[in-house]
Amino acid sequence: MASIDKRVAVVTGGNRGIGFEICRQLAGRGLRVVLTSRDAGLGNEAREKLAAEGLDVVFHPLDVDSDDSVAALAAYVEKEQGRVDVLINNAGIMIDPSGHGVLDTSPAIFRKTLETNFFGALRMCQAIVPIMQHGHYGRIVNLSSGLGQLDQMGDGTAAYRASKTALNALTRMVATAVKEDDILVNSMCPGWVRTDMGGPNAARAVEVGAETAIWLAMLPHDGPSGGFFRDKTAIPW
Ligand SMILES: NC(=O)c1ccc[n+]([C@@H]2O[C@H](COP(=O)([O-])OP(=O)(O)OC[C@H]3O[C@@H](n4cnc5c(N)ncnc54)[C@H](OP(=O)(O)O)[C@@H]3O)[C@@H](O)[C@H]2O)c1
Repeated sequence: MASIDKRVAVVTGGNRGIGFEICRQLAGRGLRVVLTSRDAGLGNEAREKLAAEGLDVVFHPLDVDSDDSVAALAAYVEKEQGRVDVLINNAGIMIDPSGHGVLDTSPAIFRKTLETNFFGALRMCQAIVPIMQHGHYGRIVNLSSGLGQLDQMGDGTAAYRASKTALNALTRMVATAVKEDDILVNSMCPGWVRTDMGGPNAARAVEVGAETAIWLAMLPHDGPSGGFFRDKTAIPW
């Protein structure tokens, strides 16, 4: 496979929110960014906005809930880009009914949430890590949440919490599986960020929410792996 001579990043859920800002900041650091989105119209629109800023961003459709969609994305990056250096597992949903807790949230809500927030990231790691191993380099960043911390575990948004705890376990497992390669895998919490998910009253702008993800995406060879970070500082699981 032909390989371009700059680093390539794949970002899931890149059409809006923190994912879009991560695309902007990674491309601003000189990477080629594969901005992915499950809606092609929205994804292309997002790509065009960043291209208008002079950034090197390409679009490819991706629904992380779908095995076929993830396989198609992996085949595309392998053939057309020849490498993946950075994977940002950003796509996420929070669909817990408000006012409900663990005892009255349906298993269907748990399953749907885990499908995207956990299985989506699992599918992406399984598809992309072999490409990273081929290039002997990789940085994987999983967008988790303080709501997934066992240390702070509460009852509300139960399905979302469980999905992020599972995602954190995935971070540890993949970090262990690739420890002989120069592939570093970490979870991060962006804080409470003003997006469609975070709402208008959230404390942080997307630029701030993206910062730790960018730091983890650009880690040097001796950087941490298998950790959980907020504001570039390790936090409890
Ligand atoms: N905002 C916060 O305060 C906060 C705090 C802690 C952690 N986080 C985490 O940060 C990440 C980004 O959050 P955000 O606030 O930017 O959320 P957001 O504004 O709701 O954006 C979520 C993104 O994920 C995409 N997505 C959802 N399901 C998908 C699927 N099956 N396949 C592909 N893409 C999918 C959405 O695409 P569509 O446009 O097609 O729906 C959208 O691009 C999430 O993992 C979230 O859990 C956010």
